Amino acid sequence: MQTENGLTAVVDDRYLRTASNPRYSVRLPMPNGALAQNEAYFFLEEDGQRKKIRFHDYDEIYLRPGLYEQLFYDRLKCESPTRMAEWLSKAVNDAGERTQSLRVLDLGAGNGMMGQALAKEGVARLVGVDILPEAKMATERDRPGLYDAYFAGDLTQSKSDLLTELSEWKFDCLTTVAALGFGDIPTMAFINAYNAIEKGGWVAFNIRDTFLSQEDDTGFSVLIRAVLLSQKMELHRMIRYRHRYSIDGEPLYYYGIVGRKRSNLTTDVANG
Ligand SMILES: C[S@@+](CC[C@H](N)C(=O)[O-])C[C@H]1O[C@@H](n2cnc3c(N)ncnc32)[C@H](O)[C@@H]1O
Repeated sequence: MQTENGLTAVVDDRYLRTASNPRYSVRLPMPNGALAQNEAYFFLEEDGQRKKIRFHDYDEIYLRPGLYEQLFYDRLKCESPTRMAEWLSKAVNDAGERTQSLRVLDLGAGNGMMGQALAKEGVARLVGVDILPEAKMATERDRPGLYDAYFAGDLTQSKSDLLTELSEWKFDCLTTVAALGFGDIPTMAFINAYNAIEKGGWVAFNIRDTFLSQEDDTGFSVLIRAVLLSQKMELHRMIRYRHRYSIDGEPLYYYGIVGRKRSNLTTDVANG
């Protein structure tokens, strides 16, 4: 690029903020080891103002194209969608079946990062659900046509028009990535989504490693331990891996779990 004084400036276009490649001025706060994962936040400098945004303020993040990717994928090196889609595909292939025939319900789909990884594996149908209308809007804006259908809705009620509509897709696979625990998807929504897939269908989800500890008695932790120990799911893969880094640069380890549904979950499973 030629500057006013005739010198040639080297521009690293990864940091140019354009419509197709927006970069944001994101600053992380001073290290504070006391913050829980769901309390983490960053500052966004925008239009001369500094705004504090929590990691869980997904609506604020999705409103800005590319901010989610810049923060979680470029900076904090999130690997989960790619890893989970690969492990699902391998488990399906090892069972002598084809990933390309899967009809997938992606719960907590966000702006489509998992959908993108599943599309790479070539699944047959892809339907997303997220509680936030901003997530649906961001997916349609940034990844148009990725999902065959995308619903902004709540699955916590066992009987709803949304669940009836979902049942028509005859799902044989449920994915939910980076969305369980920490106040995200409640146990009832997971149970209803699990029950919406066919018997024998595939299930792929990830959870923070600490959720499997007996000391954690939050609803989700109890539910997942019960699912793993019950006969309601047949376990095919359980892999501990680095999900991403924390804002203080510490690796956050998760378990990636792939299994096959044997039977429906009941609410008492969540109660231990
Ligand atoms: C960290 S994002 C993960 C998005 C995506 N799966 C990915 O891997 O990038 C968590 C998502 O879960 C969604 N979520 C939280 N509670 C939910 C609920 N009750 N039902 C559906 N989605 C929910 C949030 O809106 C958010 O989009």
